[in-house]
Amino acid sequence: MKEVNLLARYPRAKRNVKARLVNKEENRAIAMKFGREYFDGPREQGYGGYRYDGRWIPIAEDIVKHFKLKPGDRVLDIGCGKGFLVKDLMKICPGLEAFGLDISEYAVLNCEPEVVGRLHVGNATRLPFPDDSFRAVISINTIHNLDRAGCIQALKEMQRLAPGKGYVQVDAYRNPEERKVFEDWMLTARTYGMPDDWREILQEAAYTGDYFWTILEIDPEWVIR
Ligand SMILES: C[S@@+](CC[C@H](N)C(=O)[O-])C[C@H]1O[C@@H](n2cnc3c(N)ncnc32)[C@H](O)[C@@H]1O
Repeated sequence: MKEVNLLARYPRAKRNVKARLVNKEENRAIAMKFGREYFDGPREQGYGGYRYDGRWIPIAEDIVKHFKLKPGDRVLDIGCGKGFLVKDLMKICPGLEAFGLDISEYAVLNCEPEVVGRLHVGNATRLPFPDDSFRAVISINTIHNLDRAGCIQALKEMQRLAPGKGYVQVDAYRNPEERKVFEDWMLTARTYGMPDDWREILQEAAYTGDYFWTILEIDPEWVIR
């Protein structure tokens, strides 16, 4: 199990934290349905338009390198949304058998054309695939949307499908200032904490794959109180 940032080349987004604070509870309830509003509605309710722009290509390159993926290998992206990473993994490694799973029927119904038939609607806590059936399983910014018991279950499922060959990334903060920015910004997370809280969860799940944190670093432009 090792801490490694496979999203190091993911671009940093501009975030208007102040706008998120308006009607927060109402927007949070809408976002947590993971429907059209979350992906393609206003920014206050989610992504504000979730469109393919190639930003996952460098991440796909790093994933392929990290797991030494080759044509014919099966890889699963849990919480795949519309399948941007699944598409780019296959672009970077032609012949790779990449698949995705997401709780959002909206995302799967509006997926990239290249991944039609490769995405499944389902819950990270119950993956409908046999034991040890993937060369690698990835889950980026997804399992923190479950409660603590659900996170442990989802990690066990990743471990079951690809023992020691997982990569999970979850929301975290390192100090009270980062926690405040995170809580003001986030819409859908149910479980979050410091890296050590997450390490405890990983251990409880007997997860032996790799992991990293999504930490919203404080930018003075965002923090408008
Ligand atoms: C923040 S988005 C991340 C999407 C993509 N992995 C990325 O990093 O851009 C969270 C995704 O997790 C999905 N999701 C939320 N809860 C889930 C669950 N219990 N099982 C599977 N997918 C879930 C949502 O529909 C959404 O696509």
